[in-house]
Amino acid sequence: MTFVIAIDGPAAAGKGTLSRRIAEQYGFHHLDTGLTYRATAKALMDAGLPLDDEAVAEKTAREVDLSGLERAVLSEHSIGEAASKIAVMPAVRRALVEAQRAFARKEPGTVLDGRDIGTVVCPDAALKLYVTASPEVRAKRRHDEIVAGGGKADYTAIFEDVKKRDGRDMGRADSPLRPAEDAHLLDTSEMSIEAAFQAAKTLVDAALKEK
Ligand code: DC
Repeated sequence: MTFVIAIDGPAAAGKGTLSRRIAEQYGFHHLDTGLTYRATAKALMDAGLPLDDEAVAEKTAREVDLSGLERAVLSEHSIGEAASKIAVMPAVRRALVEAQRAFARKEPGTVLDGRDIGTVVCPDAALKLYVTASPEVRAKRRHDEIVAGGGKADYTAIFEDVKKRDGRDMGRADSPLRPAEDAHLLDTSEMSIEAAFQAAKTLVDAALKEK
């Protein structure tokens, strides 16, 4: 069986950067599952299709190509909003979870990050991390990221948005965001990316030894 690392947590907690670095360090494949929801939402919007028709959204989800998904083209705020709306639909989740599970089987190992990897997509993962940070810290990071990229950002609006997104992700009936019982909690509020990576690496090395 391939070695699967499941990384979950709320938006802007640093899971993306952490997952990419772990995948790079160990030569594992990485899938940012948020992009599968975003790509489905974008495909619907590009085709002028409704975002509230579950059957149409499911069909689109089944057609999404998981190879070469890039956050840069899917990072727009409107795409994130649309993604969180279709992410509440069980048929859409079933379709994308199937594709994510197929990805998770790649050898020699995989890192999947999202909201329900440890609880639903890969409950048998060799290692589960729940990466979090306070809403204030996450909003500040997102704000600084936009400013560093030359954009204009309003901290208060971003903070409200982070809380709204948390509410939607944690409050939905199907696969709400929550730590798996056997997940290791990693609160990065007061940690640099490097420190978070070192903490994660210690856990990965220990899990690899047990394999
Ligand atoms: O992480 P992100 O902002 O790119 O995710 C976009 C939306 O997709 C977000 O509202 C949560 C949802 N999502 C999900 O429901 N399950 C996942 N495994 C990943 C993302």
